[in-house]
Amino acid sequence: MIKDRIEQILTDGAKAAGYDEKLSCSFSAREGSDYQCNDCFALAKKFGKNPFELAEEIVNHIGYKPSFEFSVAKPAFINIKITDFAFELLGQVFLENERGGVKEHVKSELVILDYGGANVAKALHVGHLRPAIIGESLKRLYKLMGDKVISDVHLGDWGLQMGLTELQLYEDGKLDGYFGKGQNAPLTIDDLNEAYPKASARKQQDEDFRERAESWTLKIQRRESPYYEIYKVIRELSVNEIKQNYSKLGAEFDLWYGESTADPYCQDVINILNNEGLLRRSEGAMVVDVAKEDENSPMPPCLVQKSNGAVLYATTDIATILMRNIAYPNVDRIEYVTDGRQKMHFTQVFRVCKLSGISPEGQQLVHIVNGTMNGSDGKPFKTRSGDTIKLEDIIEMLSASAREKLRANGASEDDALKIGVAAMKFGDLINNVSKDYVFDLDKFMSFEGKTGPYLQYTVVRINSILKKTQDTPAGGIRIRNEEERNIMRAILRLNSSYEVCYREKSLNNLCSALYDLASAFSTFYNNHNVVNEQDPKVKAGYVALLQLVKKKLIQGLDVLAIEVPERM
Ligand code: ARG
Repeated sequence: MIKDRIEQILTDGAKAAGYDEKLSCSFSAREGSDYQCNDCFALAKKFGKNPFELAEEIVNHIGYKPSFEFSVAKPAFINIKITDFAFELLGQVFLENERGGVKEHVKSELVILDYGGANVAKALHVGHLRPAIIGESLKRLYKLMGDKVISDVHLGDWGLQMGLTELQLYEDGKLDGYFGKGQNAPLTIDDLNEAYPKASARKQQDEDFRERAESWTLKIQRRESPYYEIYKVIRELSVNEIKQNYSKLGAEFDLWYGESTADPYCQDVINILNNEGLLRRSEGAMVVDVAKEDENSPMPPCLVQKSNGAVLYATTDIATILMRNIAYPNVDRIEYVTDGRQKMHFTQVFRVCKLSGISPEGQQLVHIVNGTMNGSDGKPFKTRSGDTIKLEDIIEMLSASAREKLRANGASEDDALKIGVAAMKFGDLINNVSKDYVFDLDKFMSFEGKTGPYLQYTVVRINSILKKTQDTPAGGIRIRNEEERNIMRAILRLNSSYEVCYREKSLNNLCSALYDLASAFSTFYNNHNVVNEQDPKVKAGYVALLQLVKKKLIQGLDVLAIEVPERM
């Protein structure tokens, strides 16, 4: 938008001066300059000119523009300053425009985003935290940029954990009723939370138990009675619990499908692979060779059917891609968010889908790999006793800390949860998606610095100022001083950060831009007494500016799926 306009003017100026070249510009950190163009060096070289003189020549050919001032700085930069008048106009447009001036993509794509991955019968653990946080924000970002996005939780609900849990429950006498041995109390989530870890530990030592669990799993997969009925009860109990956890995190899914939803398509997958001549029998199992000729990426064959006929994790993922392409023609991208342990899995799945045509040409299959959240020891975050932490325990830890901080001003339970979750999300998203980071409760929870609570606090503060000035209707935005200019500069950067995040599939740039806007606001507010301003015109301008800052912060926080509390 603004950048495009400036680049057009620069290019026209160069052309008028006799250089038919496209010029570009970028944000400038130089004093008195909003954008800068660094192209004159290369241009001068090309045309055998003195760079400084060439820059002057171009600027002289630009002529008067009401919105921008062009000047040349040594050695050969063109500085571009946005005039106060232009900033006022822009501010007004951003305030009134529904999108707040955020540019939409020209081409809207249809995207399926798979970022849940919670496993039925197992408690949601910390490994599911980052995909939920990142995926939810990417979804919101893509939508803001004009894509159509369908989110799918893709539950892990068709694997060995089913058989393990049922067998354990059976041995603990909790399924007697299903096997004609009297009556049972209905199963509870506590039963599940107890059974799975017990069974999972047992399978490591007890080969026989593991084999029996595998055959139970197969019975469930074949929908045999009563195994499948019990499975359905377990699934429902578990999904209810999972839904509550995700909703605390603000993660909302359009589709609550799982591996089991794709199961009916597994046979089709096997048939397609067979017809395409891609299946190979290996020790009774069925595999697809996915190694590429290129020896830099050796890849073991993808196992799609076990010798006992059971399907595997890869098979259900391939079947899911098939199912998605049947349900939604013209899917442009299917994206997954998980940690790096699944790299090989997705590489194999994607290759099988491309080799077989299950994923049509031109469709992008993307694995977004998130780094891990570590403890202060630099190792993946665990409880003190070394166990994996449950997601709900982390959420509780964060909101307890918020409750503690806010005890004095009587914040509600709901507000405490919002602040705790914001601390977690911002602490996560401020890092590049692919990077590991350290979970640091005190740092994340701080009301100052680059944190979620600081941004929430800024909005809460603006709300309270707007309340105190509610008798002053907003006037036109006016730029009279450096602090106001800096707010507008921060907003321009914020608007362009969406583009960067979209390209990088990471939200760190947006997080920093939001923080910069909040601190620009804070500097402005420390220097200007908005509430007690005597000149009604000036005050009305301040009110409009505050409304704009609030709107831009809330829009950004909404992409991060961070809600603002009532008070804090
Ligand atoms: N359930 C898996 C896990 O907990 C994650 C699922 C990721 N999504 C997928 N389509 N495979 O590790």
